[in-house]
This record gives sequence, structure tokens and C-alpha cells, in this order.
Amino acid sequence: MRARDLSSLLAEGVQGRRVLVRSDLNVPMHDGVVADDARIRASVPTLLRLTTAGARVIVVSHLGRPGGERRPALSLAPVAQALGEALGRKVAFCSDCIGPEAEAAVAGLAEGDLLLLENLRFHAGETNNDAHFARALADLADDYVNDAFGTSHRAHASTTGVVPWLERAAAGDLLLGELEHLETVLAPEHPFVCLLGGAKVSDKLGALEALTTRADVLCVGGAMAYTFLRAQGRPTGASLVEPSRVEDAHRILAAAVRAGGQLLLPVDHVVAERPAPGPYRTVREIPDGWMGVDIGPQTARAYGEACARARTIFWNGPMGIFEIDAFGAGTRAVAEAVADSPARSVVGGGDSLAAVRATGVGDRITHLSTGGGATLEYLQGLELPGLAALGRRA
Ligand code: 3PG
Ligand code: MG
Repeated sequence: MRARDLSSLLAEGVQGRRVLVRSDLNVPMHDGVVADDARIRASVPTLLRLTTAGARVIVVSHLGRPGGERRPALSLAPVAQALGEALGRKVAFCSDCIGPEAEAAVAGLAEGDLLLLENLRFHAGETNNDAHFARALADLADDYVNDAFGTSHRAHASTTGVVPWLERAAAGDLLLGELEHLETVLAPEHPFVCLLGGAKVSDKLGALEALTTRADVLCVGGAMAYTFLRAQGRPTGASLVEPSRVEDAHRILAAAVRAGGQLLLPVDHVVAERPAPGPYRTVREIPDGWMGVDIGPQTARAYGEACARARTIFWNGPMGIFEIDAFGAGTRAVAEAVADSPARSVVGGGDSLAAVRATGVGDRITHLSTGGGATLEYLQGLELPGLAALGRRA
């Protein structure tokens, strides 16, 4: 059965109800401070609608990968503070997500109050989707809202396990908004241009395979481009290459030819001796002892021209080591080209979003997705467990 949307749940009434909201507040932290609050701000509308309707709101999320152990550096306490600022109201925080402490905190909630519970992944039961853990979490609440689109590719206790134990389940506004925007990429207007970057072919194999046959132009950047260059027998110097993926790269290149699409690889490179600030230069062939750290200017121009002709663009993953200013020009150029294009554009993944923000072009991109891995899996047409639990599919 298909679960409700938040609007239907609100229409049926939530006043006084304890509503467990699974949000994705997995934000980058720097020295104990939230470094980027995009996911927090995106989670606010659902939470405000629930509190305004008089629900007792219990928010749960993970942060990082603590592996079932209590790791103070991955506490959600600083996120409670940032969430309070984004909501413009006080957010109570409880230092455990199940057990007597959490039960007492929930019992103390008045109508319209909001409580954030500590990192779900401090308990191994979250990622193991343990039935007892799921039950303990579900027992805190009456109803369930899943708004954690960015975590919907995980079959965890808070995204799937709790669902049968709660009276009503609904999809939140952030989650529904993501599905609406991603629909335009799943059924794109052509030309459809995809830009995929990042370190490893192995991380994005499925996305590469699926998008190769669907995109009119697939532009590959980041370190994974060097595995493709190796597959073509081109020199890669000391670049990061995954030898075990060269065969896959071969297959993907062949599939692109068969599908009649274009798979573009870098034709020039910024190379350095180390993946660290230091000497670098721009070359057409990567010399021995040097490693590619960014796409070169001619490549950036070619990828930009593809974007300019596109009607739909999807971008995930940086073109180089963009955290290092000198190796970030390719990624910045791509961010600008995506923004300048008249195409509908969707950008996903933490690094690409950081590049978009650093370039100041965010307001000229149609949709900044809160999903990284989840967005890639959705666009491959894979069933996402968190969505399936709500009766939705790609
Ligand atoms: C993400 O940032 O990709 C989501 O929050 C999921 O996190 P995970 O990859 O650690 O499961
Ligand atoms: Mg991830």
C-alpha cells in the first residue's frame, strides 16, 4: 500500500500525536561546528508544518558512520543548535535515541514541541536494521514521516524497520520534492547531458552504466577519468587508476558507442607531483611521475559547450581535487557552465554542492539535491528501500 503524503496526514490530523520524523541531518562538520547547513534548512518545511499542526515532533537522523559506537565527535548536539536556528525556535535534544532517557524526553513534549534524538548510528541496530532496535524507536511515537531522501538507499531501522510498527506513515515534503525534480532527469528533455566526477569508477559503476546509455553526452571527470584513459591505452603517469576497473571502463566505453551517445573524457589535464599544494602544470599527455588533479581548460570548455546545448543536465562529483584552490578551476568552470545553461539542471552530492556554493551560482541551478548516493541510485532506476517502505518506486 502506498503511504500518505504529509499533506494527507496533516488533513487527517496530527494534533497531540507523537510523530517520528526521519530526516537526513548528516551534514559536514568542522571542529564540532556545522560546516554546511543545506540539509538542515531543507528539512525545516516538513518540521514546521508538523509543529504548527500541533504534533509532538521527534526527529531522528544519523551523522557520519560511527559503526554502532558512541563517538562524541559525531554527536548530533551541534546539529540541534543549528536546527533551532534554522527553525527559529528551541529544539530539545536527548543524548540517546532509544531507552529510558528518550522515553522521558518524549513524555515531556507538549503539542507543537520538537525534540532531536542523538545519532541513530550510535546503536548498531540502526544499520543492521535490527527488529528490537526498530521496535524501541517506533514505540516512542504514534505516526511516522520519512523526509530523509538522502538516506533512502539504506535499508536501516529508521528508514524501513520502523514502518510496520507505526500507525500511519507518510512521505515528507523534502522527499516528495526530490522525487518531483528527479522525475525531470529520469524522463529528460534532450539533449540530456550528464557530468560525472569523483575519485573512483567503483563508487559510480552503476550510475556510469545507466547514464551512458541514457545521456546524449556523458562528461567524465575527477580521478575516475584516468581509469578510462588507461582503458584507452593513454598515458596516466602517477594518476589514481583502479586497475581492477579498467575492464569495466572498456565495457562502458563500448556501450556508449553502441547507444549512439558521446562519452567525453579529458583531453588536457592539470598535473602535480602530489595530491597536495605544490608545483603543477597543464598538459595534454600525463607525464611519468605526475598525477592528474583536475581537468584542463580545453576539457572544461568542451564540457561547458555540451552544457550550453543541453535541455537537461545532471551533475554529480567534482572534476578534480577542488578543495585545493589551484586544482579547482575545472570544477568551478563546470559549476558555472551548468548555471549558465538554459537547461533544467539537477546537481547532487556533497562535493558538487560545495563547489556550487563556493562559485556562488546555486540560485541559477534548477535543483540542488540533498541526495548523493541516493540520487545516483534513484536515477539508475534502482528500488530505494526507504521509498519502497512508503510504497514508492523510481
Ligand atoms: C549521505 O550523506 O550519503 C547519506 O546521509 C547517507 O549516508 P551513508 O552513506 O553514510 O549511509
Ligand atoms: Mg554517502
